[in-house]
Amino acid sequence: MRKDFPILEQQVRGKPLVYLDSAATSQKPRAVIEAIARYYQEDNANVHRGVHLLSERATQAYEAAREKTQRFIHAAHAHEIVFVRGTTEAINLVSQAYGRTRVGAGDEVLVTVMEHHSNIVPWQLLCEEKGAILRVAPMDDEGQLLLDELEGLIGPRTKLLALGHVSNALGTINPSAPSRRWRTGGTCRCSSTAPGGAASRGRRAGAGLRLLRLLRPQAVRPTGIGVLYGKSDLLEQMPPGRAGAT
Ligand SMILES: Cc1ncc(COP(=O)(O)O)c(C=O)c1O
Repeated sequence: MRKDFPILEQQVRGKPLVYLDSAATSQKPRAVIEAIARYYQEDNANVHRGVHLLSERATQAYEAAREKTQRFIHAAHAHEIVFVRGTTEAINLVSQAYGRTRVGAGDEVLVTVMEHHSNIVPWQLLCEEKGAILRVAPMDDEGQLLLDELEGLIGPRTKLLALGHVSNALGTINPSAPSRRWRTGGTCRCSSTAPGGAASRGRRAGAGLRLLRLLRPQAVRPTGIGVLYGKSDLLEQMPPGRAGAT
């Protein structure tokens, strides 16, 4: 295992380097580093924007990665996979594209008290802009979500529930479908998960999960790459969240 991570080959004060901050970012295995280097050495070009050989190869690689991600999270279609720069960007994109058109004055957005900042601040800003209300589901002293209270906070004005799968601060693993009400009601569930959980979460997409963002730090993928999954019908209704080039 250690030999797969070139950064761990170095010694610090005569001892092998040990890296424990993987909740913040992961170290990258040789396969990832080599794939990036190979891309820049052999295929680098704009995707979807050139008719020359390199652009075709870069586009093929890009679309192959989309299909691989689709299979990994059991999404129904490859076009449900949106590449973004990271989790924070995925949430901002959803709050801009989905939130701006679906959330109005007096509506409610529900988060939990254990959310990462990136899953609170964009919703706060949206609620301020729209005159909507941000509701926060509580947890107990053990860091577990109080599911009855969460359920009680979901009402007819709840437009979106933004819930992390695993808390990076507490390590709490939240149930993937903790509330009957959001499965049966019109609430859109936006979840974030580390890749390990993504496969099982995606499998449950039919049970009401509409938007899913994969967490970058817990993955071994390069910095600056993230994935947002959205059900086709939802993506089709969403206006562009960003204008111009990528
Ligand atoms: C739970 C959680 N959500 C979101 C983020 C932000 O991720 P990104 O840097 O991809 O925007 C992190 C980063 O550590 C995280 O742990």
